[in-house]
Amino acid sequence: MPITIKSEREIALMTEAGRILEIVHTELERALKPGMTTLDIDRLGEEVIRSFGCEPSFLNYNGYPASICVSVNDEVVHGIPSKQRVVREGDIVSLDAGVIYKGYHSDAARTHAVGEIGPEVKKLVEVTRQSFFEGIKFAKEGNHLFDISNAIGRYVRQFGYGVVRELCGHGIGTHLHEEPEIPNFSVLRRGPKLKAGMTLAIEPMINLGTARVRWLEDDWTVVTADGKPSAHYENTVLITKGEPRLLTLTGK
Ligand code: MF3
Ligand code: CO
Repeated sequence: MPITIKSEREIALMTEAGRILEIVHTELERALKPGMTTLDIDRLGEEVIRSFGCEPSFLNYNGYPASICVSVNDEVVHGIPSKQRVVREGDIVSLDAGVIYKGYHSDAARTHAVGEIGPEVKKLVEVTRQSFFEGIKFAKEGNHLFDISNAIGRYVRQFGYGVVRELCGHGIGTHLHEEPEIPNFSVLRRGPKLKAGMTLAIEPMINLGTARVRWLEDDWTVVTADGKPSAHYENTVLITKGEPRLLTLTGK
């Protein structure tokens, strides 16, 4: 499958999908409080998604049983919401969500602090977010895909954090996952040329300690091998001839 170039019509639909997903994230951030269960977060997210007439991208995707991925502390991504799991002051919670609007997906993730968190973890969350912005400095027509990967990897390395290698960003459009795969670490090639109209979900997953991860018994939840915290930050991005358009972060 080649990397698809979206038409003006498709870009308009993805722009709307992104705008809605941004609202979903704003509502989730506002609601996130100590004492909530991760299932409460999922329920709210699904309700907001459906209130716009959208479908949750993740529900039943490869059998995923919920609408939102809620990953707490050492959980990297794909945490399955549970009524058993209560979030507490001092936790970090990564919320990953996707919406389908008229057949087009948007995908975005944020890591939030629940109440006060320690300075070490706070820095991890900030560096993870910033690594996305370092990467997208290269996200424009004429550059190459792995310029983005290299910039993320290079930025994170100076802090001594572990960059997750088993999971990558991806193209997005009529499918949640399209070509190309977008690593968050340095690769020795520059990869395919970026062209206006490509839509990419760029999503660094960064660990405080080792880069190594493992999968829990549920075969979804990815956790750090050393039990230290991990953060995630993702937006759906439109490549143009100039600055990239962040479809899931329009307010900035
Ligand atoms: N942002 C994640 C990804 O691109 C979300 C997928 S979760 C799944 O892999 F449940 F849909 F698989
Ligand atoms: Co994604």
